[in-house]
Amino acid sequence: MTLPGSPFLAYRGPDLFLDDVRLSGLVREHGSPLYVYSRRAMLAALAPYQKALKDRAHLICYAIKANSNLAVLQTFAQAGCGFDIVSAGELARVQAAGGDTSKVVFSGVGKTRAEMKLGIEAGVRCFNVESTAELEVLSEVASGLGRQARVSVRVNPDVDAGTHPYISTGLKGNKFGIAHEEALATYKRAASLPGLDVVGIDCHIGSQITEVAPYLDALDRVLDLVEAIEAAGVTIHHMDLGGGLGITYTDETPPAADVLIGQLLQRIDARGHGHREILFEPGRSLVGNAGVLLTEVLFLKPGEQKNFCVVDAAMNDLMRPALYEAYMGIVNAHQRADAAQQVWDVVGPVCESGDWLGRDRTLAVQAGDVLAVLSAGAYGMTMASNYNTRGRAAELMVDGDQVWVIRERETVSDLFRLEHRIA
Ligand code: LLP
Repeated sequence: MTLPGSPFLAYRGPDLFLDDVRLSGLVREHGSPLYVYSRRAMLAALAPYQKALKDRAHLICYAIKANSNLAVLQTFAQAGCGFDIVSAGELARVQAAGGDTSKVVFSGVGKTRAEMKLGIEAGVRCFNVESTAELEVLSEVASGLGRQARVSVRVNPDVDAGTHPYISTGLKGNKFGIAHEEALATYKRAASLPGLDVVGIDCHIGSQITEVAPYLDALDRVLDLVEAIEAAGVTIHHMDLGGGLGITYTDETPPAADVLIGQLLQRIDARGHGHREILFEPGRSLVGNAGVLLTEVLFLKPGEQKNFCVVDAAMNDLMRPALYEAYMGIVNAHQRADAAQQVWDVVGPVCESGDWLGRDRTLAVQAGDVLAVLSAGAYGMTMASNYNTRGRAAELMVDGDQVWVIRERETVSDLFRLEHRIA
């Protein structure tokens, strides 16, 4: 039986395997909670992007925020990817993972001067600038270093990505990007600043997008702008169409990356822009379905109104359900024939009612079982916190039957290492 989202995750008999590794066995060896990712699944998710873009100048910049483990970055760097970063911390990760900083685009609405300086010194390929104020400061910082910073302006095409309000970014009311109407003036200003070299245009309209239409709408708006900007004498070399492609958590049917890109390229060519280099910034679609969060069942707590299945992972380990009411699939890593199926709320130990991983889930489960939270490879570990003084989970990478520990479990002393008692 194959589960939604990934052909690499499947039951063999009663046991759930990721690649050729039995997941319940990993918890016995490495403890719980535990994030596990498949390198094969990540590369398989990258393949349709590469295939669709192989015949033209392009760069796939993996959006690090989705999963920033060094081994994950190393995997994508070795596959030829660049990176989309949003902080000096993420830049340092690219360097530590052996990535190529000349393939980095630096996004984000609030870069500090120190981050701009580090980005310029590292030779990042482009800053995606989100305001006129940022343009001015970036020019100043670059001039101070005797350099020019390459820039794209992130434009806000004002299209509805049709996704959760917290992860929709291309609408007028969002803090992101420069309004369509102001874009031309912003480009003229950028071209006039001594410390800047205008190289591209950028947009990113949101995340977990499951339709092609919003991308095509945004692309049309971007192409309109490119034409107006070039008519004003500013050359645009590349178009960065952002990330945002959704994955299957339950019954979503997002387009395959090559189908989406095929349609975008068709529109680009039809409008006479086929010569431009194309950038994408995918995050979730490269790693989301490549990972699971494993968690052990501590107690069953049946009740009059609700049955609670208390597990040892919590909202601090995986925030998406608490923050977005996101649905993540949950299955037993060892299917039981000896327990009746019942409806459970799967909850963690944290002292908040919002601390749930899944509601009303039908599971045959007993204390001591290992549950797998599916599609947890993106925005799982990267959003984890130490709330309730809980150390963050360990992370493993698998490939075939190989297993690597790619992050050790945080210990309690790690948690207060930087704290001091007062006199
Ligand atoms: N580029 C930019 C400028 C972004 O802001 C993002 C994501 C991406 C690329 C990658 O988008 P993706 O391909 O992963 O959709 N924590 C939320 C998702 C936040 C997305 C933020 N920006 C979640 O768990 O659903």
